[in-house]
Amino acid sequence: MTAILVLHGPNLNLLGSREPEVYGSITLEEIDRRVIQAGQEMGAEVRTFQSNSEGALIDALHAAREWADGVVFNPGGYTHTSVALRDAVAAIGLPVVEVHLSNVYAREEFRHRSLIAPVCAGSIAGFGWRSYLLALQALVA
Ligand code: DQA
Repeated sequence: MTAILVLHGPNLNLLGSREPEVYGSITLEEIDRRVIQAGQEMGAEVRTFQSNSEGALIDALHAAREWADGVVFNPGGYTHTSVALRDAVAAIGLPVVEVHLSNVYAREEFRHRSLIAPVCAGSIAGFGWRSYLLALQALVA
């Protein structure tokens, strides 16, 4: 069975109450429930993990080498700053799809640059929680 890690970075634990005009009112728990269910319908096992810590996200990426076939990754604010996360994505040799709830290209200029995107299989931004769904579909396909 295909196995996918859905990995959420910093501040995404606050979804639901965090800037709902930007990120919507859906909670992270509900996103996880929906992607796990969508995975089941596609015949894929989906495991989810969120951390506010860069090191914990790196550890989760490393551990995914042992069990996952691909990763859906929303690096949050680390998207625009983290060389270490980029290196981890490049190191693990798994296809990673970068996702963002918001359309980062329609926001502040500092969000236009992703350090992660160049080492990913692809990127999806701007479709709210469905960005995760689209990334999962792309990976499983
Ligand atoms: C985000 C976009 C980032 O710029 C921001 O720092 C986030 C969320 C998104 O999903 O739209 O934390 O990754």
